[in-house]
Order: sequence, then structure tokens, then C-alpha cells
Amino acid sequence: MNPRPNSDLNFKLERLPKPLQERFRLLYEPNQSKAPEGRLEIDAIHQGDATELLPRIEPNSVALSVWSPPYFVGKDYEAHLSFDDWRALLEKVIALHYPILEPGGFLVINIADILVFRDSEMPRIQAEAVNRKKNPVTLEDVTRAMQEHPEYNRYQLAKLLGCSEQTIDRRLHGNNIRGGKHEAQTRVKIVGGLIEEWALAAGLYPYDRRIWVKDAAWENSRWASLSYRAVDEFEYLYFFWKPGITKYDRNRLTPVEWRDWGSRGVWEFPSVRANNDHEAKFPLELPSRVIRLLTDANDLVLDCFMGSGTTAVAALQLGRHYIGIELAGEYVELARHRIKKEALIHAARPPESSS
Ligand SMILES: C[S@@+](CC[C@H](N)C(=O)[O-])C[C@H]1O[C@@H](n2cnc3c(N)ncnc32)[C@H](O)[C@@H]1O
Repeated sequence: MNPRPNSDLNFKLERLPKPLQERFRLLYEPNQSKAPEGRLEIDAIHQGDATELLPRIEPNSVALSVWSPPYFVGKDYEAHLSFDDWRALLEKVIALHYPILEPGGFLVINIADILVFRDSEMPRIQAEAVNRKKNPVTLEDVTRAMQEHPEYNRYQLAKLLGCSEQTIDRRLHGNNIRGGKHEAQTRVKIVGGLIEEWALAAGLYPYDRRIWVKDAAWENSRWASLSYRAVDEFEYLYFFWKPGITKYDRNRLTPVEWRDWGSRGVWEFPSVRANNDHEAKFPLELPSRVIRLLTDANDLVLDCFMGSGTTAVAALQLGRHYIGIELAGEYVELARHRIKKEALIHAARPPESSS
């Protein structure tokens, strides 16, 4: 069931260039092939892998898909994924959006760069934190001691010079050795280019990009005091568009809202403070803004990494339909619980409040 059939947008296949007509014909014409295990119900949270459940959504039915996937930053729910698995998951999920989005509809991905990405190929950082170099032992001291005691290992040299064995290593090799282990260096992994590549390959066009400025994560920053890197304090919103007719309606927001955030590239609002029931919830404000900007009442909104149900709650509050997909049973329960609570509040509210 498509809550807002495309016919009301007067889309005409013949108005597209010939090669595109062929590409879109299957999507626009009725009687598309049946999903193998039946369609996913609307206004429900479905437990399962997004890559398996997305093909069960009715083609051309989703006005907006907005989600925040695993970021590959070591959260519990992504611990089973290697970097290649993570790439394959996102690439496939993006590709699976093309058939299910309404023509003219949007996919909005909230994601961040990977700030501590292990790279075994990366050259070792040679510089030392000068402020921390308290031990006066120099390379010359170590070299002299080695000449005088060629049979000494680094532990014996350390004892002789009154320093740690790491200091001996650092003086000799100029690198960061912790507990005698050589760890891979870490760098920033920029994800925007990957996402863009996968979306274009799927037939979705980059339409816009915004930045969400969140709370600065001082307490999580492993490097703030040890390098020149900035603390983690923003994420991206990448907007992709499926070709088709897109309605442009300035009445979706008030003039003040257009000025304050609708037309702004930087959105600033706090992170979720209580992550006690889910590790990585986004704030309700995030999907609410995207939904208000890009959809109308009764449109269908999808989140295929639903987590605690934030997108569904936003959709309910704004009078949109939703479909949620989530892998972890405990989060499915959590999302259903939040939605139940919200539905009760929504039912008790006067009808005018959705816009
Ligand atoms: C960043 S969290 C999303 C949080 C959500 N926006 C919220 O506000 O609660 C990503 C979610 O994707 C789920 N997930 C991971 N792999 C998945 C997959 N293959 N299919 C569906 N969900 C998956 C995780 O369990 C996690 O809850």
C-alpha cells in the first residue's frame, strides 16, 4: 500500500530522455514483481537485516528514508563487522534504496568520519609530545650504554639508565611503543566520498549536505591532549535524490524556520544525553527536521537502522507513516515501546499539530 501514490504528482514517463524512460519504466508501471515473502507492513518495526528486508518494501513507496548506520567506530552492535563488511553493508543498503524510493524522493544519511581508523600501511608518527618528555635520558646516553654493555637487552639498559624500556625504544627508534607492542597508526577515514560513490552507482544523486554540530566529546577524545587533532563534535547529513518530480513547497516551514535552519548548512542542537538504553541514538530533532523539510503529511518515512525508534517517533509526531528495520531484538523491543508511548500521546493530542 502506497500512502501517497505518485499519480498526484503528474509524473509522465514520456517527459524523460529516452534512455531514462527504459530505466524507470519498471519502477513506474504497476504490477511490479511480487516480493518473495510478502510486503513489509507499514507503521511497524521489523526485526532483521536491512539487506534482507529492504527488497520487501513496495517499489516507489518511500518518500524519505532517513537513517544513521553503524559508523565503524567500535560500538557493540557493530563489533561483528570488519571494515570490508561495513563497506559492503552500506553499499548494498544504499543500492537497495533505488527501487523503493518514490521518484523525486530522498535518502538522507547521517554519518561521521571515522576518527580513529587503524592503518597498518601508515608511516609511524616520529614526533614526541615535547611537553611530556620528562625523562632526561638522551639517544647519546643509550648509545653509549649499549657500547659499554653490548650484551644488555633493553630492560637491562633501562635499569642502568634509570628509565623505562619504552624510553629506550623511543630514543632508539623515535616511535610510540606501548608495552613493547607495535600498534598500527591511526588516521582519519573520510566517508563522504564512499557514500557518494555508492549512491551514484545506485542511481541516486547527491542533492545536499549539511553538518550537525553536536556536543563536543571531550571525555571520549583519546587524542585531544596528545596531538593537533580536533575533538569529535560534528557529523554529516548527506541528501540523495531519486530522479522524478519533486514537489517544492515553501509552506512546509515558517519563514523563521527557513531562516533559522531550513536553508542553513549547519544545524546545531545537543546530542542525546541519556544513552542508557541504546549506545548511539540521534536526537529527535534530527529526523524531525529532515521529515518536515522533505515530506508531507501521510508520506511514508523509512529508517532501516532504526535503533531505539527515534525516526518512527518523529514520523508519528508529524503525522507521517513509517517503516522501521532493526537487527537487534532488544532495540526492536525498545523502539516498539517508545512508539506505543508516543502513539498514546499522539492520540490524545488535538489533530492540528502535524505540519
Ligand atoms: C547508529 S544506530 C541507529 C540509532 C538510531 N538512529 C536511534 O536514534 O536510536 C545503528 C543501528 O543499526 C542497527 N544495525 C546494525 N546492522 C544492521 C543491519 N544489518 N540491519 C539492520 N539494522 C542494523 C544497530 O543494531 C543499531 O541499532
